Amino acid sequence: MLQQTELAGSYTLAGTAVSVNRMGYGAMQLAGRDGDKLVWGPPRDVDEAMAVLQEAVASGVNHIDTADFYGPHVTNQIIRKALSPYPGDLVIVTKVSTRRGDDGSWIPAFSREELTAQVHDNLRNLGVDALDVVNLRSMFSIHEPAEGSMEAPLTVLAELQQKGLIRHIGLSNVTSAQIAEARRIVPIVCVQNHYNLVHRADDALIDDLARDGVAYVPFFPLGGFTPLQSAELSDIAAKLGATAMQLALAWLLERSRNILLIPGTSSLAHLRENLQAAQLQIPSEVLANLNSIGKPEKEF
Ligand SMILES: NC(=O)c1ccc[n+]([C@@H]2O[C@H](COP(=O)([O-])OP(=O)(O)OC[C@H]3O[C@@H](n4cnc5c(N)ncnc54)[C@H](OP(=O)(O)O)[C@@H]3O)[C@@H](O)[C@H]2O)c1
Repeated sequence: MLQQTELAGSYTLAGTAVSVNRMGYGAMQLAGRDGDKLVWGPPRDVDEAMAVLQEAVASGVNHIDTADFYGPHVTNQIIRKALSPYPGDLVIVTKVSTRRGDDGSWIPAFSREELTAQVHDNLRNLGVDALDVVNLRSMFSIHEPAEGSMEAPLTVLAELQQKGLIRHIGLSNVTSAQIAEARRIVPIVCVQNHYNLVHRADDALIDDLARDGVAYVPFFPLGGFTPLQSAELSDIAAKLGATAMQLALAWLLERSRNILLIPGTSSLAHLRENLQAAQLQIPSEVLANLNSIGKPEKEF
């Protein structure tokens, strides 16, 4: 089993005493699927879901990403069942913005009442008195960042933070302008946007955030529901004695020091494979090649 020091080192969230290992875990894949309803209902295999969480933490993972709208409620409930009482250094990051329709849809939920209810849902289902980090996820466009003011919902979260229900606040699915607006209202410790080897829209943003010490946490680091597939990536990985998924994760760790990883899996074998990516050294010539194959014009 990996030791904590092998999880790509640690990173302290800007302006806080909170430090996490750079290799973390994303819990969304633990929820089930019901036909077209993704991230819905109980896990495919409850015992394996519990084991994935327990082995992740036993291996040194101390950063888990979740949301109460995964399932809905299911993912948080299984995190609580598998891991509570929680280790003192475990940081659970959740997000608010959404409620689920009966048809599995993702419905924006930004009113004061809805945001407050989502925070209380997370507290209850995780079984904690305060949430470590809450990301406010924009929903102006569900699949990608789109401009629009987040001042009103952020002000609600800031008030809940003042009441002690939230320790730190982050953002998700946001533009540079929204981050700048948010940072005028409340300290922002992390940004969680879609980014991976072949989805590079945030290249400049990552560098900007790195300069300010704000963590950047890519969602879909492996490509999401349809993991990355590329003969070129697989060939390069094989020459390094690694898998394509490990190389994709190791590239992210190399990309910038402020990148924290939350790869998602419902499989113990994949969890082990992903954690080992933290030990993969990428030679500089291979890195240059990966950087170029990952540019948008060469998307695969
Ligand atoms: N803020 C947001 O809007 C947002 C959106 C999406 C996700 N997230 C967060 O980001 C986390 C990561 O994203 P994600 O889980 O959707 O996508 P991901 O980490 O890019 O990829 C997950 C997919 O890759 C598969 N996989 C994982 N490890 C693998 C391996 N070693 N070999 C082959 N396949 C592998 C998983 O299937 P198996 O289960 O079979 O391993 C699953 O299908 C989520 O868990 C969630 O916490 C946030």
